[in-house]
Amino acid sequence: MTIRIAVFDAYGTLFDIAAAARRAAAEPGGEKLARHWQALAATWRDKQLQYSWLRAITGDHAPFWQVTTEALDYALDAHGLSGRPTLRDRLLALYRELDAYPEVPPMLERLKAAGLPTAILSNGSPDMLMDAVTSAGIGPLLDAVISVEEVGIFKPSAKVYQLVPDRFGCAPGEVLFASSNGWDAAGAAGFGFTTVWVNRAGLPRDRLPAAPAHVLTDLTQIPELATTP
Ligand code: LAC
Repeated sequence: MTIRIAVFDAYGTLFDIAAAARRAAAEPGGEKLARHWQALAATWRDKQLQYSWLRAITGDHAPFWQVTTEALDYALDAHGLSGRPTLRDRLLALYRELDAYPEVPPMLERLKAAGLPTAILSNGSPDMLMDAVTSAGIGPLLDAVISVEEVGIFKPSAKVYQLVPDRFGCAPGEVLFASSNGWDAAGAAGFGFTTVWVNRAGLPRDRLPAAPAHVLTDLTQIPELATTP
């Protein structure tokens, strides 16, 4: 099927979520964090996702920024860092200005040059997405930044994926959707998107009902996938 739009997950796919803890650990005062910033970042992400899924199941939706903050509080506690309010504030500030992966701007430029619309579809709250897009300088390369806040439930609810066909008037199969989260790629594939799992970390395939059509190690080849009939 011809691809009519390229849509991206945000956190972990376009933006490097480990950058917040990595940068904090490299700053003055980050010596204790330097020993276990990777473990802190992993717990932070794991809890952020678990809380999003649990809130989707129980119907207790809250903005992703709140979920992200609550997950950080758990992670700081788990790693013996909960008495460090300055570190907490710094990590949250850094999460608002995460680095984009280096291939992201040229990849989006090639999609635009090919005449394809581009969008983000993310759990992120609109304000945090806007901060990330602005600090990465990719706003002019995106036609839409779509947040789950429009439907008040997190991925992988079908209500979230449905936002793209509703906004762009296309069939699900005409959407090339890329996510580095195996569970998100599986959810999107089950919804009917033409899906790419960006397996940056070399993880095993998630055993879920639907599988992505493509697996890449980064986003560089997305324009070829999007424009090859
Ligand atoms: C997002 C999370 C799932 O951006 O990475 O939606």
